[in-house]
Parts: sequence; structure tokens; C-alpha cells
Amino acid sequence: MRIMLVGFGVVGSNLAKIFIDQREKLRRGRGINPKVVSIVNSRGALVDPEGINLETALKARESAGGLGSLKEIWNEGAKPPEVLDMIECDVMVEAAPTDLMSGQPGLDHIRAAMKNEVHVVTTNKGPLAIAMPALLELAEHNDVMLKFSGTVGGGTPMLDFAKKCLEGVEILSVRGILNGTTNYILSKMDAEAVPLDSALAEARELGYAEADPTYDIDGLDAAGKLVIIANWVMGRSLSIHDIKIEGIRKVDQDRMKEAKEQGKTIKLIAKCDSEAEVAPMAIERMHPLNVSHTFNAVTFDTDLAGEITLVGRGAGGPETASAVLRDLIAIRRFYSRRGTLMGRMMRRA
Ligand code: HSE
Repeated sequence: MRIMLVGFGVVGSNLAKIFIDQREKLRRGRGINPKVVSIVNSRGALVDPEGINLETALKARESAGGLGSLKEIWNEGAKPPEVLDMIECDVMVEAAPTDLMSGQPGLDHIRAAMKNEVHVVTTNKGPLAIAMPALLELAEHNDVMLKFSGTVGGGTPMLDFAKKCLEGVEILSVRGILNGTTNYILSKMDAEAVPLDSALAEARELGYAEADPTYDIDGLDAAGKLVIIANWVMGRSLSIHDIKIEGIRKVDQDRMKEAKEQGKTIKLIAKCDSEAEVAPMAIERMHPLNVSHTFNAVTFDTDLAGEITLVGRGAGGPETASAVLRDLIAIRRFYSRRGTLMGRMMRRA
């Protein structure tokens, strides 16, 4: 499988480490032999049709010269659409920084890949928060797969769970804690009565907050994830502009105390029923959604099976890279089955 890696930050570099550490397991167990033919960052692109040495690329990433220090295969200023014209690849893994307002540059990367009949696995919420229905249509039109497990729930398979394991029941509503940073802050405010600012500083140190933490605090990150869940799982056709959003800035100790007195706690809840909304809400302390630290949780309310709640780590390099791996395996499996099916049909004809 020839892969173009767009973005070599926390997720991209963790994926490269998994490819190195699990090469044999992936080849034997999953039939995947990942060959990274390009690594693109905001400065340019490494391109090698024979496959880039990932150990060398990871070392270069840490060095003063960055990826550009690998001069022989470095293309200064090259962007993903140009790189797609330079080499052949099967899948683009798009893990560029998220912009929830414009969806760029991820939107252009994903469109260019699909127009070149290249499958896409993305961890970038921006393009989907802005244009998910159009992107899914483009994928279908070009007969490629667009996979995005890592955009919601980090390594916790919230989207796959709802889509695959809940077949046969109707999902009436979704409620979730979809942002680890604000959950960390609100949990600290509840347990230790600390002010919001100092809890945010700790969350940033843990590496959970977005590059622009206002995305976390003002509820935009959770809203982007809600768009993806609502569209994928509930068949809606939303963009982030359709979501009513309120962040946690106004949550203070008075509000926390009032909730406590009623046996409740305040969480940043993203919900979709007849309306789609993100806002701080008081929930019962005993409800399974009441998770602490940076955990994420989502409750699906179904017609036949009642409420089902899934809890797990909603972010982190290895966790999110594991979701990318799941998507790559799904693409591989789909195409090997399709190959077998076509083979069988041809034998029968
Ligand atoms: N800033 C996000 C969070 C990272 O705190 O949940 C994962 O999308």
C-alpha cells in the first residue's frame, strides 16, 4: 500500500512509529505492507517512489533542519496537489492542522486526492465540519474511500460502533463529551474547585488542547465532532454553521456548586436530537457520561436497545494513529474482498 502522509506532527509521526514497530505484524496479520512514498508538511515534501526510510525521516523531524535536511528527496514548497502529480500512491493520510472555520488546507488536500482516485484517511475535523456531505459525494463519484475514524473519539471507535454494531436499531439521539480538554478542566473545577485558567494551563501541558485552545474552550472542537457523528450515524446533512454552540467560559464555581447540590455536575455536552447543540449542561453524577480527566464518552439512545454509552480516550498520538491504522486495514480488506468477488464472478461467467 503506497501512502502519502500529509502532516508529520503528533499523529503522522506516531503512525510512522507504528509502521516501523509493527511492520511484520501488519504484513502477516493484515496483508498490509505500508510504503510511505511521500511525507508532506507546511514547508515542502519528501518524495521517494521506492519508499521513504521512516527511521531517517523521524530523526530528521527532530533535527534543526527538519525534513528539509534530507536534501536528496526534499522538494521545497511542494504542496499535496503537486506531489500527487509527481508520484503514484494508493492512500493519502491527511493529518494536517485543523481549521474549523475554513476547513483549509485539509479540504484542498482531500479534494485533490479524491480527484486523482486516491483513497483518503483523515484525522482532520476541519474539512468534514465544513463540507462533509459534498466530500462523501465526491468520494462516491470517484469510487474511492473516505475514512475518518480518528476525527471523533481518538482511538475509541465511536463512529464504527454506531454504524456497524448498531445496525438494525434506530439511533434517536446522541449525547456526548467529545472534547478532552474541556472535560479535564470541568472535572478539575468540580473535584478541586480550581479556576478555569489554571486547569486549562494543565490541559495544555498534557498536550491535549488544540494549537488554538479557543477551539476547545469555545466548544468548536466538540461541534465539529458532533457534525461528523450526526451526518455519519444519524443521516443528517449538517455543517458546523448549523450547530448552536456555547463554550465553557461562563462556567464558574457558583454554577458548579449549584449542580453539586442537586447531585449533578457540569459537562460540555454535544447533543443531536431534533436540534444539534453544544453547551455546558448539568448531568446526573451517576450517569455513565460522567467521565473524568480527558476521557470522552458518547451515549446513543436507540429505539430497541435503549441507551448505550461508549467511553475511551478521545485524543493522543498513538490512540489517534491507531484509528488511522483501523481505516487503512478497512480499505485493504474492502479491496481484497472486492478482488475476490470480482474473481469469483469472472470464474462463473
Ligand atoms: N483538543 C481535542 C480534545 C483533541 O481536547 O479533545 C482531540 O480532538
